[in-house]
Amino acid sequence: MPGHKRGGEDITELSYSDCLLSPTGPILMAERDIAKILNARRSFILTDGSTCGIFSMLYALKREGMTSVAFPVSSHRSVYNACRVLGLRAVLIPQKTERGIPLRPEIEDIEAALKGADALLLTSPDYYGFLAPMSAAREICRTHAKPFLIDGAHGGHLHFSDMHASNYADMWVDGVHKSLPALTQGAVVSCRTEEWAAALEEGVKTFRTTSPSYPIMASVEEAVKWPRNEEIERAAAQFKEDFGAVPNDDWTKILIFFGEEADNAQRTLEAQNVYPEFNDGNYLLFYLSPCTTEEDLARLGELLRSLPRGRRVTEGKIPIYSEGT
Ligand SMILES: Cc1ncc(COP(=O)(O)O)c(C=O)c1O
Repeated sequence: MPGHKRGGEDITELSYSDCLLSPTGPILMAERDIAKILNARRSFILTDGSTCGIFSMLYALKREGMTSVAFPVSSHRSVYNACRVLGLRAVLIPQKTERGIPLRPEIEDIEAALKGADALLLTSPDYYGFLAPMSAAREICRTHAKPFLIDGAHGGHLHFSDMHASNYADMWVDGVHKSLPALTQGAVVSCRTEEWAAALEEGVKTFRTTSPSYPIMASVEEAVKWPRNEEIERAAAQFKEDFGAVPNDDWTKILIFFGEEADNAQRTLEAQNVYPEFNDGNYLLFYLSPCTTEEDLARLGELLRSLPRGRRVTEGKIPIYSEGT
């Protein structure tokens, strides 16, 4: 194996290649480096996306005897699915929407939900680039002695800053294939202290593939070690101002209102090989990373200047992050 017999980097476990399921060589060294960079006690490389990390964290809760978890309604479907598969009761935290965009959950709503649940899971940042109220949530979890989990599927690039999940959560996921340059499906799940290490490891070993991709593994290590690109961070902030983007917390996500012109704008951009991350019926979201260049941004700006903006569409599209399988 693999059956393509082409050799190269896409190998399986060989005498020299170490083994992700019980690493002792270069993969162990990579996981240790990653844990150090992410300020974690243990980090596990995932080749099955943040989805696997979410299942693993919720498995860890279940293994420690917990039966319910509170999370905001707009959480990713993997959170709902993991609860269903693991038999965890979901305690939903309501979220208001403004202009069709789900707002960050209110701290009072988080606290109320947590009273009826054994643990808390928040997404930070979310798909629209808003951070969860992590500091306040951490304090509430401490007060109630309940674990705090963060879905950072969109936050891998924040590990140089105090906005990163590691500063707040007991366990968290970094989706390094979204906002850092890992291959698709590359992610990391981590825990801050030894307390959760064994349960999380058992979760990872339960849900991950037994044939992990070596190119993805290598790309995860490279992505976590990728240097911060402050030039593009500054350029993104300026771009948001110049184009009237919705103010948010995350430089990688540029949200521009097009209203009823959203579909036309998407079509025009795609004809020029520029693909927005999503179109929710009113807004297009452009997703940057440290690999975005200033030339990329300048080109996007040029195209945006020629695109009309329309009136608000009241019937938005079904949000892509929402509940369901
Ligand atoms: C908020 C959030 N969490 C988790 C996931 C799952 O990540 P992955 O596709 O890497 O499994 C996604 C994917 O889009 C997401 O948006």
